Amino acid sequence: MSKAMGSRYSVEDSVKTKEYFDFVKDLLDSDVVNEMKKYRHHYSTTCFQHSLNVSYYNYLVCRKLGLDARSAARAGLLHDLFLYDWRTTERKKGEKPHGMRHPQIALENAKAHFDVAKREEDMIVKHMWPLTVKLPKYAESYVIVAIDKYSAAMEISVHLGRLMKSKAQKIRQRKAS
Ligand SMILES: [Fe+2]
Ligand SMILES: [Fe+2]
Repeated sequence: MSKAMGSRYSVEDSVKTKEYFDFVKDLLDSDVVNEMKKYRHHYSTTCFQHSLNVSYYNYLVCRKLGLDARSAARAGLLHDLFLYDWRTTERKKGEKPHGMRHPQIALENAKAHFDVAKREEDMIVKHMWPLTVKLPKYAESYVIVAIDKYSAAMEISVHLGRLMKSKAQKIRQRKAS
């Protein structure tokens, strides 16, 4: 069962997410997308969960704006398909930092496994804009830039919230003993 953070609906089972699920079912069923579960991304959030968050909220916003919701859902799930732990993987000589090079790696991996439409390509490769200098070409690419940052902020907040809760609990226990 997969759920975007902050959403009540299981993407596989809910009638509310049926269209979304139809758009990304083949990706969710694939080994390569599931491989992202192995890598931590923002604190306790895995790369898979982050990508699901971006995909789902990207889909909702693009649908609301009358944009290409299918591309939004698919590019969201593939935008960070770089498949390594960026905390522990050493940068080779001459390589750009992770933040600048991973969109291209994600795009190459995505294209090796799936058909990626031109609009989706732009969304994946420009999602770190303005860090990646080239201007996004489509409205959907600007949406993913915003949703990626929104999702990262949400994931970090959830992590800090849990941390504070557990610290407060420890303080209470210490006082009670
Ligand atoms: Fe990214
Ligand atoms: Fe991301």
